Amino acid sequence: MSKFADFDKGNNSIASTNIMRKFIVAGNWKMNTTVPEGVALAKAVAEKSKEVPANVELVIAPPFTHLGAVAAAVEGSKVALSAQNCADKAKGAYTGEISVDMLKSVGCEYTILGHSERRQYYGETDGKLVEKMKLALEAGIKVILCVGENLQEREAGKHFDVCRSQIENVLYHFSAEDMANVVIAYEPVWAIGTGKTATAEQAEEIHASIRNTVEAKFGRETAQDMTILYGGSCKPSNAKELFAQPDIDGGLIGGAALKADDFIAIALSF
Ligand code: 13P
Repeated sequence: MSKFADFDKGNNSIASTNIMRKFIVAGNWKMNTTVPEGVALAKAVAEKSKEVPANVELVIAPPFTHLGAVAAAVEGSKVALSAQNCADKAKGAYTGEISVDMLKSVGCEYTILGHSERRQYYGETDGKLVEKMKLALEAGIKVILCVGENLQEREAGKHFDVCRSQIENVLYHFSAEDMANVVIAYEPVWAIGTGKTATAEQAEEIHASIRNTVEAKFGRETAQDMTILYGGSCKPSNAKELFAQPDIDGGLIGGAALKADDFIAIALSF
C-alpha cells in the first residue's frame, strides 16, 4: 500500500489537498475467450476482487458478445464492466456496430476508446473518437481514452508530441466537467504484447507530460484529478515499480488480464 502511504501528487500530501484521483486497474481482454471461458474468468476475478483495497477500482473489458453474461457474473462484486469500443452513431442502419445505449443497457460503466489496435487496423481517427466520446459521455458511460506512440515515433524522439496531439485532438473538444468521466491510458505501441515494458522512468516522464497537456486546457485541479493508466506488457513483476511513480495511477492490462491471479496481483501492486 505504499502508493497511498506516500501519496505526494504535485508535492502535496493527500491530507492537504482535495485530489480526487482514482487508482484503476483495467483488463482489456481484446478478442480473446469464448463466452463460457469469459464468464469463468470474470467469476474468478470477481471472487478474488475481495482482496483488492476499496480505493483501487477494478474494470474488465470483455468482447461485446460477452457483456451481458459477464455483467451477471460480476454482479454484486466491485468489478466494473467496460466495452472495448463503441459506435460513432447513436442508432440506426449501421450494420455490425454497437451503440452506447446498447452498452448502457447491459450495465457497461466504461468504454475504452482509441486503442492503438483500433487506430492501426481499423482506421480510427481522432475525429471519429470525438464523435464516439460525445455519445459515450452523453449516455453516462465513462471513457478510457488510449494514446501512445509507435516505435518509429519513439525512435525519432516524437513521443511527447504524438501523445500531446492525440490528447489535444480529442479531449480539447470537451469541458473540464467532462474530464471527471475520462481516464487516459498511455500505451506505447512498441510495448503492447511484445513483452517490452516502458521503464518506470520512461512511462513517468510521458505521464507527467500528459498531465501537463490536460492542465494547459482544463487547469491544475482537473489535471491533478485525472487518472492516467499505463499499458503495455504490464504484469505482476513490473506493476509495483510502475505504479509507484507519482503520475501513474494504475494500468490497462492486456495479456495478464486473461489470468485472474495475475490481474489481481497487479491490482495489489499499489
Ligand atoms: P499487453 O498487456 O498484452 O501488452 O496489452 C496492453 C494493452 O494493449 C491493453 O489495452
